[in-house]
Amino acid sequence: MATSVLTFFNNKGGVGKTSLLYHLSWMFAALGKRVVVVDIDPQANLTAAFLEEDRIEKIWNEGDLNDTIFKCVAPLSEVGDILDPCLQNIAPNLYLLPGDVRLSRYEDVLSEVWPNSMGDNNLYRPMRIQSSFWQVMQRAAIAIDADIVLVDVGPHLGAINRSVLLATDYVVIPLGADLFSLQGLKNLGPTLHIWRSAWEKRLENWRMSTESQRHPTFFLPRGNMQPIGYLCQQHSVRLDRPVRAYDKWVNRIPNVYRELVLSLPQESVSQSEDPYCMATIKHYRSLIAMAQEARKPIFHLTSADGAIGSHANSVQDARKDFEILAKKIGHKTSLFQEGIDPLQNTIPDEGIRSSRM
Ligand SMILES: Nc1ncnc2c1ncn2[C@@H]1O[C@H](COP(=O)(O)OP(=O)(O)O)[C@@H](O)[C@H]1O
Ligand SMILES: [Mg+2]
Repeated sequence: MATSVLTFFNNKGGVGKTSLLYHLSWMFAALGKRVVVVDIDPQANLTAAFLEEDRIEKIWNEGDLNDTIFKCVAPLSEVGDILDPCLQNIAPNLYLLPGDVRLSRYEDVLSEVWPNSMGDNNLYRPMRIQSSFWQVMQRAAIAIDADIVLVDVGPHLGAINRSVLLATDYVVIPLGADLFSLQGLKNLGPTLHIWRSAWEKRLENWRMSTESQRHPTFFLPRGNMQPIGYLCQQHSVRLDRPVRAYDKWVNRIPNVYRELVLSLPQESVSQSEDPYCMATIKHYRSLIAMAQEARKPIFHLTSADGAIGSHANSVQDARKDFEILAKKIGHKTSLFQEGIDPLQNTIPDEGIRSSRM
């Protein structure tokens, strides 16, 4: 059985997507799950969070032929085939397939073969290219016996992200409380529907083709891309804006999510009561910079890193918050079979208001 792929996705940058994924990957690993993290954002911010710059430079310029996501799929743009990925071991249970700024070159390759993957014949190569990210993820998962693959992407709706979403079982949508996040969500919902149905047609077309008989061991992702909830980020709120500006945007999220992402009827529900809101992520202020400096998650900071006094308490709070969130997500993705009831546990969100005092 294929390993589940969880992607953090939205159509708006700077909402804390990469930071969240970084922290959750550490937390899943700490909870005993074996995790592969794949950085498919050509900006490679997630890779920069995990690895020192010197190491990244070495990987990009002198490394092995298969040690970034781009290097693993690049042979497909010529006459070659997918390479088995070489992963970086970050910590026990935690592995990274680094990103690569050159990945943006692959956008054109994917766009070009998209129409061909719906043709009458010569389907094998276009389908192999379209599913190449998934093929690499699955090889990575097999290599380290992973329980889950976590993927970070840029905030675009282009061919790279379409291919990532085809490879995705579950989607989490981080949002800020502002016009741009809401507009991004309005864009994202219909796009997920279009991609899902376009991929279903291609899968059907492939199944009916004679070529599929000739490639019985060629597996393809199902393209479920099931949205399991959204997260509200406080840090993206401008501190000089009044609380009601935050409330105004945040309380519109539940119905946009219902209508355009889930195709459900509208309901009168506020964000704080919305079961699809998985958490409100706190503004971690100086702890974020401290964690980046120490190249570790906030909840691993110690007094040696400068986390003393009230910072030490915030570190403990962050550990609890991320543990609850990881279990909640794990529960919805079947990573944790028995766990807490996702709807009974809410991330404490004192601080929405105090954070802006
Ligand atoms: N919870 C948080 N509290 C404070 N700052 C945060 C938080 N999450 C992210 N940030 C900061 O916000 C900026 C954007 O975050 P990032 O994770 O790169 O967003 P994205 O991947 O959506 O572009 C970064 O400078 C990051 O350090
Ligand atoms: Mg990012």
